[in-house]
Amino acid sequence: MHHSISSLAPNADSLCATWSSGDQTDLPYLWLRDNCGCDECRVRQTTEKRFHLYRVPSDLKPRRVGIEDAGSGDEAISIDWPDGHRTRYRSSEIHGFLSLPRSERHYWDGDFQPERFDYRRFLASDRAAAELIEEFLRTGVCVLVDAPTEPDSCEELTARLGPIREVLFERIHNVKVDPKGYNIAHTALAVAPHNDFTSYTWPPNVQALHMLVNECEGGESVVVDGFGLLDKLRSDDPDKFDLLCAVPVPFRIFSKEHECYAVKPMVGLNGEGEIDMVRFNTAQMQTIPLSEPRLRDFYAAYHELSRRINSPGAQVTFRLEGGQILLCDGHRVLHGRTALRSDGRRHLQDAYFEHDNVRNHLRWLRLGGRI
Ligand SMILES: [Fe+2]
Ligand SMILES: [Zn+2]
Repeated sequence: MHHSISSLAPNADSLCATWSSGDQTDLPYLWLRDNCGCDECRVRQTTEKRFHLYRVPSDLKPRRVGIEDAGSGDEAISIDWPDGHRTRYRSSEIHGFLSLPRSERHYWDGDFQPERFDYRRFLASDRAAAELIEEFLRTGVCVLVDAPTEPDSCEELTARLGPIREVLFERIHNVKVDPKGYNIAHTALAVAPHNDFTSYTWPPNVQALHMLVNECEGGESVVVDGFGLLDKLRSDDPDKFDLLCAVPVPFRIFSKEHECYAVKPMVGLNGEGEIDMVRFNTAQMQTIPLSEPRLRDFYAAYHELSRRINSPGAQVTFRLEGGQILLCDGHRVLHGRTALRSDGRRHLQDAYFEHDNVRNHLRWLRLGGRI
């Protein structure tokens, strides 16, 4: 559908554009000047912006504005600036700038089962890779099946997920019962839903849990949609939600060789107020100082969150077999496992990746016309 601008009306610091549909859009003068696409304002070789905003006064106003025919049934708004510079935008361009595309999230509870994808197809086929990443962006979780069982073979995932995000301890973490282990996962105890490395200010946000061998009774995998659960808490009890966003909590993981400590609230929001990080790790949570003025109210909120995360209605349980990889959005999805009930062999490897690289792999597939 063709979107055309039928008239322009100048305001004090913006231009009001009226679309042929009757809708109106406010175009601030500084925005119009800043986004000029002419060769003078861009690095021709790269299309990066060369123009710097400080070069014009903050109260910039055009000398003249008009609507011109831009050919191919499109029209353009043209702006003459006081310094002689000229900027043009086609209506279709302005329409493309109205909003950023958003990826829709699908929240889930205990009735959900993560979608399964074939490991080899994910690596070999751009289309299969795009399908998996789209599902991963929507739900924050999926399972790769028929994957190799050789140690460290999850390095192969870098072709799709980008470089491994290394953290302290091992590049690829080994999780098996180990009497010298530094973490609860190295015991046979149940591990309640949590996310990893909450003790980093920027915890890894994609986690691959690669089961190499699982001959153990028990040890079922558990996942919880942290964002879905917090979204519900936000509408049920906004005051508790706000406390979880506000009160700083210390987290720590350590061994003889390493120390990792950070102080951050349990919930993070983005600039638009959307939940974009949950930090929940009982084993790594440290004592909040008594000087925290909101301590009692925070504890009521934390209790509610802990209760909801550990309620069976929130938890999805399934068995991850040898040669299967559970992919989790590390800032959204909490993972855990039930207790190990036998001495059977069980060896899991964990590697982390960056969500930006996964998301942008899909963008790259699309922009390059590969899918
Ligand atoms: Fe973990
Ligand atoms: Zn320009």
